[in-house]
Amino acid sequence: MTIECNQLETAYSPSLNRPILNGIDCKIKQGEFVALLGLNGAGKSTLLRSFVGLIPVKTGEIRINDTLITPRTLRRIRRDVGLIFQGGGLVKQLPAIDNVLCGCLGGLNTWETLWGFPKKQRDRAFELLANFGLKDLAYQKTGQLSGGQQQKVAIARALIQSPQILLADEPTAGLDVIAAQQVIEILAQLHREQGMTVVVVLHDLGMASTYPERAIVLDAGQIVYDGKCHNLSDKFSKLTPPKVEV
Ligand SMILES: Nc1ncnc2c1ncn2[C@@H]1O[C@H](COP(=O)(O)OP(=O)(O)OP(=O)(O)O)[C@@H](O)[C@H]1O
Ligand SMILES: [Mg+2]
Repeated sequence: MTIECNQLETAYSPSLNRPILNGIDCKIKQGEFVALLGLNGAGKSTLLRSFVGLIPVKTGEIRINDTLITPRTLRRIRRDVGLIFQGGGLVKQLPAIDNVLCGCLGGLNTWETLWGFPKKQRDRAFELLANFGLKDLAYQKTGQLSGGQQQKVAIARALIQSPQILLADEPTAGLDVIAAQQVIEILAQLHREQGMTVVVVLHDLGMASTYPERAIVLDAGQIVYDGKCHNLSDKFSKLTPPKVEV
């Protein structure tokens, strides 16, 4: 599945004069593995969220698999796109398996969930957690899992509807080297073995040059580099960080 943005401008509220994304043009092809990079506040999360209609488009357009995102097409498109939120976005009080099941709420009607989630979905949620080594923790409160384990729950939630596109916003943040590698390896495997289109926001340039094939670097809501994952630190040295004083 492809993602295409043409002259995309977004602002969080109409009263906000300054657009957060400013004329984004990009095309991500079916099966690509793309790293979305940039300094804090550059607009990475905003861009990722706008792909699933969570941020209002001011001007320009977004197309998923040639379908223009509109309020009418959004529900159908969302079924094909799995999103892993920055920080996980999980309900900590719920068991891990329930968080995974929340990922299929959009695809079920009220009747189907009246007596709880259907067995087919519960089995699939358990299978996903088991695949990520969380079989014994499936019924544990999510807040009681480690950061790395929670990140895997967030991936399982994004995967339960078998999406064709996976958008992951800093899925390795706060993880130790091994856990971060495991998480990025899961994404790489989904790309390699299932041909999934994967867009991942990363801050680790080493990881970005190892796994994804293409890097898109954002600066102040604009794309300043789009190409191979080579010499990424060079690209970063040209960005202007905000001034910080102590
Ligand atoms: N809900 C919001 N309302 C208004 N402005 C927002 C909102 N969320 C983010 N912004 C602003 O949009 C800009 C881009 O934010 P965004 O979260 O997309 O950055 P980011 O590149 O993901 O940064 P980080 O690396 O810190 O996660 C920032 O200037 C931020 O202050
Ligand atoms: Mg962000």
